[in-house]
Amino acid sequence: MLNRVNRVALIGTGFVGSSYAFALLNQGITEELVLIDINKEKSEGDAMDLNHGLPFAPSRTKIWFGSYKDCDQADLVVITAGANQKPGETRLDLVEKNTKIFKGIVEEIMSCGFDGIFLVATNPVDILTYAVWKFSGLPKERVIGSGTILDTARFRFLLGDYFDVDTRNVHAYIIGEHGDTELPVWSHADIAGTSISEWTKNMDGFNQADLDQLFLNVRDAAYQIIERKGATYYGIAMGLVRLTKAILRNENSVLTVSAYLDGEYGQNDIFVGVPAVVNRKGIREVVELELNEEEKEKFTHSVQVLKKTMEPVFK
Ligand code: LAC
Repeated sequence: MLNRVNRVALIGTGFVGSSYAFALLNQGITEELVLIDINKEKSEGDAMDLNHGLPFAPSRTKIWFGSYKDCDQADLVVITAGANQKPGETRLDLVEKNTKIFKGIVEEIMSCGFDGIFLVATNPVDILTYAVWKFSGLPKERVIGSGTILDTARFRFLLGDYFDVDTRNVHAYIIGEHGDTELPVWSHADIAGTSISEWTKNMDGFNQADLDQLFLNVRDAAYQIIERKGATYYGIAMGLVRLTKAILRNENSVLTVSAYLDGEYGQNDIFVGVPAVVNRKGIREVVELELNEEEKEKFTHSVQVLKKTMEPVFK
């Protein structure tokens, strides 16, 4: 039997969506990509522009501007549509506006018989991932948010830069809300299997304040970028491509995504950033790190802030 082709449906071709489509094409991850957006002109232009790059791509990807009915054969629907943060706005400020937009989008997609996996990127991503789960009725493991995948990447990049090692040899996680209450899991951060504290012992002039500031630079990175260029899109787009690859290639990769907690970390009925095993069926399992007391407190606080923000929306 011929291999069934992978189809990804992208909802939203703004900065994040079009950067994701561009990165997906350049990495040759999927055989089909359908672009869906209320701005028909722009999306049609994107489809044409991307198709013209195909001769330079590593493999063939069929790209077209389509409609929600193209979701019925999709393996993965990626949602980047919605309002994004403006300078001075937090991600949580967008909850009301974007939940309303999402209700319409998910109802349209489900009415076409979609039965695959949702990947959500729009902010506030943890709450909107919960909204997609509620509106779609799909099993929790098939609704994934980008969560703290980008925060973890920023953390690893800055740690690699600080210790002058390849960022791919840094293992460290940011968990919690993708936002102001996220936290670093220092107790499980290592470089080539050696704890960060071991590495700092051999560093002349090491100052703990450097690492405290490094985390603040991770947490506030989006504000810094938005102030300079108005939006962030390349980093998150590459994180979404990483997730798409883990799903379509059935990789069982551990990535920090917004996953549903059903008792893990002592929390229930919430989507929040945690390490999880990701494969073709979605979330295989949540990885429960042994947090120290300080990390447990911060994680619980992060979940409480999300629940408080969600209350009026899902009452
Ligand atoms: C950021 C957006 C994706 O952190 O929330 O850049």
